[in-house]
Amino acid sequence: MSVYIIEGGVPLQGEIAVHGAKNAALPVLAAALLPPESHILACPSLTDTAAAMDILRALGCRVTREQEGVTVDTSSAQQWEVPERFMREMRSSIIFLGAILARFGRARVSFPGGCELGPRPIDLHLAALEKMGTVIQEDHGCLDCTVPQGRLHGAEIFLALPSVGATQNVMIAASTALGRTILHGAAKEPEIDDLAAFLRGAGARIYTNSAGSMVIDGVEQLHSVTHRVMPDRIAAATYLCCAAAAGGNIVVRDCVPGHLQAVLPCLEQAGCRIQRYGDAVGLRSQGQLHSFGWVRTMPYPGFPTDVQAPLMAVATLAKGTTVFTETIFENRFRHADELRRMGANIRTEGRVAIITGAEQLHSASVVCTDLRGGAALCIAALAAQGQSRVAEIRHIERGYEHLDQSLRSLGANITRSRDEKEEETHAEQNYIQDSPAQTDQAAADAAQKTGPEEAPA
Ligand code: UD1
Repeated sequence: MSVYIIEGGVPLQGEIAVHGAKNAALPVLAAALLPPESHILACPSLTDTAAAMDILRALGCRVTREQEGVTVDTSSAQQWEVPERFMREMRSSIIFLGAILARFGRARVSFPGGCELGPRPIDLHLAALEKMGTVIQEDHGCLDCTVPQGRLHGAEIFLALPSVGATQNVMIAASTALGRTILHGAAKEPEIDDLAAFLRGAGARIYTNSAGSMVIDGVEQLHSVTHRVMPDRIAAATYLCCAAAAGGNIVVRDCVPGHLQAVLPCLEQAGCRIQRYGDAVGLRSQGQLHSFGWVRTMPYPGFPTDVQAPLMAVATLAKGTTVFTETIFENRFRHADELRRMGANIRTEGRVAIITGAEQLHSASVVCTDLRGGAALCIAALAAQGQSRVAEIRHIERGYEHLDQSLRSLGANITRSRDEKEEETHAEQNYIQDSPAQTDQAAADAAQKTGPEEAPA
């Protein structure tokens, strides 16, 4: 296990390029089960994408990562069951269900269950796939799915909520289904467009009708495709929040400023100077911030739930009161407790968080509770006086490619090191459990045996 050690109070300077989007790469990797071969460029190197690649391998695909991206060869794919450990590792693995059914007419996956953001239901995914001809049986926490006709068929589907995951599952499943699928109420996130671009590149017929619904005319087979994953809008917003809180002058390159249309006005309102370029955003912050009123997470083009935590870290230093309402997930304020350890003044009531800006945050030892919450702790630590220790950074590594290196390139004082505290605790526990006669040397050996860094998922 590793931690970040961050010495705060250093303004950030320079340019940083944004990596490919996790939330686009994961559905593209799932969809890559359908074409014979997919070359996925700018596929970010993250533990979540590694988990998705492992799922493809478990299904029998040959998956290789080279410098420019990932290649998926499905010629030997024959398994239709996703091992439970992969389903547990990454909740969004449910996105593979539509692809497996489209390819094999059968699938067995375990129920993804709840997660750190609260319950993440999949009823909309399942109802849509049922409408397309899937018979689903729940069996001891597993979903046993069959398509009795062998091939999914098109259907008219109404999504009660614009679920990103359900939209992606339907798009993939419908691409090779028999006939036409009309999807009403589809999500409109840029990651949906990115998946559509991948599928279209492979020969899928996806378009929007005059009523604004998504229409997918199933084709017999998809062909091989090369696709570049879109830039990560959440990573871009995170870097901007880092500079807003710590102060400084940065340019975030290789991003799409239009994807940040709900985020940039908040930073402007906070007093940051924002420059929008063709494929870059500049931010200058004096470090003296004002509150930015009321932020309500919404489906795109509304304010993204994934930027709620990073922007909350900025709000902890913004003079006045800022209110966040989280409408997408039930349990997405777990970072608030950790931010409080650094002197943040945050009150939460259900889905509402009220933040009164503090003059200054102080350093602390904090623990990441989830991916974006972890990013929020790093932002606060960059702005705080003194040395902070951010533990459980495995959450951060699910979605940010080498966050420490990126921030160091902007002048931040951040290092990644082994979690000695945790190793000491393990050693102590082994010492107590194993034998009363165990020596200090044995405890030290036990510490050694805690092994190498956590393997990528
Ligand atoms: C969500 C975010 C997405 C973000 C991703 C990772 C939204 C709308 N979606 O996508 O932008 O990148 O998390 O953090 O912001 N729901 C159901 N039944 C279902 C599916 C969803 O009730 O079958 C509900 C969820 O509980 C949630 C809402 O619909 O309240 C949106 O969920 P959904 O978009 O499906 O979540 P993700 O695909 O995980």
